[in-house]
Amino acid sequence: MNGLADDRDLWDAQPGWLNTASYGLPPRPAWDALQEALTQWRHGSTSWAPWDASTGRARRAFARLVHADPDAIAVGSTVSGMLSVVAAGLPTGSRVLVPEIEFTSNLFPWLVQAERGVEVETVPLAQLTAAITPATTVVAFSLVQSATGEVAPYEDVVEAARSVGALVVADGSQAVGWLPVDATRFDVLACAAYKWLMAPRGAAFCYLAPELRDRLRPIAAGWYAGEDVGEAFYGPPLRLARSARRFDTSPAWFSYVGAAPALELLDTIGIDQVQVHNVGLANRFLGGLDLPPGNSAIVSVEVPGDAAGAAGRLQAAGVRVGIRAGRVRASFHLYTTERDVDLALDALGGSRRPVA
Ligand SMILES: Cc1ncc(COP(=O)(O)O)c(C=O)c1O
Repeated sequence: MNGLADDRDLWDAQPGWLNTASYGLPPRPAWDALQEALTQWRHGSTSWAPWDASTGRARRAFARLVHADPDAIAVGSTVSGMLSVVAAGLPTGSRVLVPEIEFTSNLFPWLVQAERGVEVETVPLAQLTAAITPATTVVAFSLVQSATGEVAPYEDVVEAARSVGALVVADGSQAVGWLPVDATRFDVLACAAYKWLMAPRGAAFCYLAPELRDRLRPIAAGWYAGEDVGEAFYGPPLRLARSARRFDTSPAWFSYVGAAPALELLDTIGIDQVQVHNVGLANRFLGGLDLPPGNSAIVSVEVPGDAAGAAGRLQAAGVRVGIRAGRVRASFHLYTTERDVDLALDALGGSRRPVA
C-alpha cells in the first residue's frame, strides 16, 4: 500500500460513492473548519476576517497545485462567471473553437457574445487540434471531458493554437486535483473546486496569463477587487488590484473555509500519487467489465442491458454513479476503495479482477 492509506482515514464516505465528477467529498479538516465557521456565524463570535483568510490560503494552495504564481489567480464562485469576463473581452468578430460535447459553462459564455459578432464553432474533440486555423481567436476546452472522462490532447492543442496566435482557454474542473496540470501552459485555466478539489460548492479559481489579463476589463469588479480590500469599501476613485485579484468577486466565505484545508491536503499528498490511485481504481473497474485500461479517473461505459436497468441495479446496491447519454459514468478519487469498485462490478455482473 502506498502512503495514501493513512490519509484515506480522513473521509467518512459511505460505500459506493463513484461520482466525484458530480461532487467531491470533504476531508475531515475541511469539514471541521466549516463546522467551526458555522458555529461562529451562528453566535456572532468573530468578524469575517478569519473566514476571509481562507480565501488567501485557498488561492495560494491552488496556485501551488497548478504551478502558477498566486498573483495570477483570481477567485470567484463559478467557472461560467469567470469565463464570462474573458468572453466579454474578446474583440468583435472573434472565432471560438470548442469541442462539441463540452460542458456548457465553457460554451454558453462564448455563445452569448453572438450579438457582438463572436462566432463559435464546435467540432469533435478528436478533431480539435486539426480544426485550429489562422482564423481561430480562441480554443476553449476541458482538460478532462465531464461526460466521458476523455483527457484532451492538450499539448497538441496548445502547440497548434500558439502557431496561429490563438488564445487557449482550459477548463480544469474535471482535472485539477488528480491530473498534473501546469496552468502557465494556457492563457486561461478556470476550475470549479467542488469536484476533485473537494471543497463546498461556491469556490472557483481562474488562472489568467499576465499578458492577457492586461487586455481584459474586470467587468465584475467590486470592493473585493480593490488593491487594498480593507480600504476599498466606499467611494471613488476606482482603485483595483494590480494582480489577477482585480478579477476577484467577493468570496462565498464558507465555501473558502472548506476549500483551503482540502486544497492544502491535496498539495501535501501530491497529485502524482492521487493520479496513480485514481486511475488504478478506474482501470480495475474497466478490467472487471472486460474493457481495456485507460488514462482517466473518470470512465464512461456501456453496460449490459439498458442504462436505466443498470442504474437501478447500481442504486439497489448502494452505488452512486452518473448516467450520461445512456452510459454509466463512474469516477474515482482519493477516498474511493477497491471495495467500492467491486460493489459496482457485482451490481453490473462484472468480475472482480485485480488490474496489473
Ligand atoms: C467541466 C466542468 N466545468 C464546469 C462545471 C461547473 O460549472 P459552473 O461553475 O459554471 O457551475 C462542471 C460541472 O459539472 C464541469 O463538469
